[in-house]
Formats: sequence, C-alpha cells, structure tokens
Amino acid sequence: MRRAKISVIGAGNIGGECARSIAMKELGDVVLIDIPEKEGVAKGKALDIASCAPIERFDCTLTGGSNYEAIAGSDVVVVTAGVPRKPGQSRDDLVGINSGIVKGVCENIRKHAPNSIVILVSNPLDAMVYVAWKTTGFHHSKVIGQAGALDVARFRAFLAMKLGCSVEDVTALLLGGHGDDMVPLPNFTSVHGIPIRQLLPENVITECVDRAKQGGGEIVKLMGTSAWYAPSAGTVQMVEAIVRDKKRIIPCAAYCEDEYGVATGQPGKGLFVGVPVVLGSKGVEKIVPITLTGDEKALLDKSVSSVRELVGIVKKLMPEMA
Ligand code: APR
Repeated sequence: MRRAKISVIGAGNIGGECARSIAMKELGDVVLIDIPEKEGVAKGKALDIASCAPIERFDCTLTGGSNYEAIAGSDVVVVTAGVPRKPGQSRDDLVGINSGIVKGVCENIRKHAPNSIVILVSNPLDAMVYVAWKTTGFHHSKVIGQAGALDVARFRAFLAMKLGCSVEDVTALLLGGHGDDMVPLPNFTSVHGIPIRQLLPENVITECVDRAKQGGGEIVKLMGTSAWYAPSAGTVQMVEAIVRDKKRIIPCAAYCEDEYGVATGQPGKGLFVGVPVVLGSKGVEKIVPITLTGDEKALLDKSVSSVRELVGIVKKLMPEMA
C-alpha cells in the first residue's frame, strides 16, 4: 500500500515539530520546505528527525529543501510559512507580511501539488486560509485552517487543571475566528458526559474561557515568540484525520456561507471561520450544525465580523483576492 505524502512548508518551530510528530505517528513520508536561505535548516531538521527513527521505531522518509518540485504528489500540504508574533503584537498585526508569503507558497502548491488538501497554520489564520483558497483555486473543502483544534485543546487543558481530572475526559467545543474573540462554548463542554456547569462554578468556567482566548498571547509573553508544540499537535490531529480517513469531528476554519449564518443568501461572499467539521480523506466532508443560544450567536457574529474585517484588509492589500 502506498504511504501518504505530507509536505510541510516552513521548517521553523511549528513546521519542524509537525514533521517530527507526523513521522512519530507514521502518518506518511514528509517533505520539509523553506526559503533558499533556510534550505540547510529544512535539510538538517529532516535529517535530524530521520535519525530518531531507529530509537522511536518509525518507518518513513524525511527530506528537506527549498525546491517545490519535491512536494509533487502530496496528499496533504501543511503551510506554516510566515513570521510568528512578538510580544505586544496581535495575530492580526502579521497580516501584511504573511499574506504575501502565503500567496507565494500557495502558487507553488497549485503548480506542484494540485491534488493536495491544504492545511493553513500561518497567522492571522482565518485570513490566511482565505488567501490560500483564492490563490490555489482549490475547492473550499480542500483548504482548511488549523485553529479550533488548538484553541479547544487549550480550553480542555485549562479545565482539566481546575478539575484535577484527566484531559481525556474533558470534551469541549469552540467556534469563530482564531482571534481574541473566539467563542469557547461551555454549553457544549462536558466531563465524560457530565455538563461542566455541574462540576465547576461559573466564575471558574469563565476564567478558563478567558485563558483559552488569551492562551496564545500568554505564551508569546513568556517566550518572546509564539507557541509551537500545541499548534503542531492540533495540526497533526487534522493530518491524521485526513490521511487515515477518520471522519473526526474537529473545529476547523472551514468555508461557510449559509452555515452558521456567515453569509446567508450571499453566494460567493462566505468566509473561513471556526466551526465543527467532519474531517476525512476528502477534507471537510461536512460542517456540523448546532443550535446556539442568542448570546452564543451574538458572540459568533462578532467574531465573524472581525474575520470579515481582516479579509477586507487582505483585499485592500491584494485586490486580486477580492
Ligand atoms: N516559503 C517557505 N518558508 C518560508 C517563507 C516562504 N516564502 N517565508 C518564511 N518561511 C519560513 C521561515 O524561513 C521560517 O523557517 O517559515 C518559517 C517560520 O518559522 P518560525 O519563524 O519558527 O515561526 P513558527 O513559530 O513556526 O510560526 C509560523 O504559524 O502559528 C503561526 O503565527 C505563526 O505565522 C506564524 C506561523
């Protein structure tokens, strides 16, 4: 049976950790790509990870370089290329520089891996998925943003810390953009089926919601750059769902028009926002609808407005994205 092929663009902190984790889980062969000036880093990380194989006992090939011909035949391409944020910056502050980077990367994906499913990680995420969709011209089910997998993992981790229970038993849901107004949903959060409100007081739940929303910024303040382990874990969870056709339900940035009222009755005016999707070998196979309270819908609408604003900035910078 043919192994899956997964290319990771950007061999930095997230890209390197994605490559390592994909190899450790034997999800497929990995190609790491970076700019020509960082070709040595891409090659070196691939070689370093490949040298773990005898100890960690995985069989797959890892290669690195800067020539996009190497991504030909990829089943999945993960895009982590771009600059990370620094203390004091929001994800949105990266829009100018990362739009150009993601556009250039996606032109190469369109050319060399036209049948791939593309997972975006670069920030500001919701706008970068939009740039990738417009640039590749791929069907929207094949262009997906990684955000919810990470944000919900942070929310679950913080709840488990408060509860003193296993994170495995905490399930939760989160909607909206990958920004400060993302929408964690306590009504859809439970611990082995027990509604979270039966286990924690409202103020503690709110504390965990707020910490999840600020989770990325908390780490930027500590490290001076953005996180990479959990973002990679979220990304690789998505890669696994796709290459193993697991049909997992994961919140991802997916293209919505009528869904969740993002652009009801306005064909072509949709946006990529975080919603629960069924993720399998065809990419986003379904967007799962849920019933929200008025308050939850208002929070989601606010988050969608922020994404729309950000995409508006991209369209101003790059009129070809309109
Ligand atoms: N093509 C390929 N790689 C590129 C390009 C490009 N045009 N431009 C930059 N890169 C590479 C950089 O050379 C670097 O190796 O992308 C890599 C980014 O790595 P880091 O600086 O370590 O950033 P990282 O923490 O991995 O974050 C990457 O993901 O979560 C987001 O906000 C984060 O936008 C950032 C991205």
